[in-house]
Amino acid sequence: MKNIVQLLVVAIIGLTTYSCYHDKLPEPILEEEIIVDNVSFKDDIQPIFTQNCINCHNGTLPPDLRVGNSYSALTNGNFISPSNKAASILYKSLTGNGASQMPPSLPLEQAKINLVGQWIDQGALNN
Ligand code: HEC
Repeated sequence: MKNIVQLLVVAIIGLTTYSCYHDKLPEPILEEEIIVDNVSFKDDIQPIFTQNCINCHNGTLPPDLRVGNSYSALTNGNFISPSNKAASILYKSLTGNGASQMPPSLPLEQAKINLVGQWIDQGALNN
């Protein structure tokens, strides 16, 4: 009987140690923001609008984000504060923080949001 108890104790300790070891959560992978130099409005930003925004922002709903109209619509409508993404309604709408979430159904991928933020912080040039 004593042997069985000893065996059980050993088994319990063994199992506990084993499961603790295997329950260890993997290290969280932190997504680093990739910094892109000289983000281009024409080549990097407009395609994001064309793909994700112009279903709705096609002339009647401001800002008009169609090719050729978007830059002036954004600057004239005060949707961007050049070099200050945090103060820009455009950026706030992409993060859903301080403005309505855009697109309303599903936020853009983080990499695209970062790209728009970097373009604004680099002066929001019509480049
Ligand atoms: C399904 C339709 C739809 C899509 C797609 C959409 N929007 Fe909008 N957007 C709206 C509506 C409706 C409003 C105005 C009402 C509101 O603010 O919720 C708006 C408002 C905005 C505003 C003004 C917000 C403010 O507070 O003045 C900005 C900037 C904007 N959208 C940017 C975008 C961008 C950039 C995209 C693409 C990444 C996008 N939207 C995609 C429907 C849409």
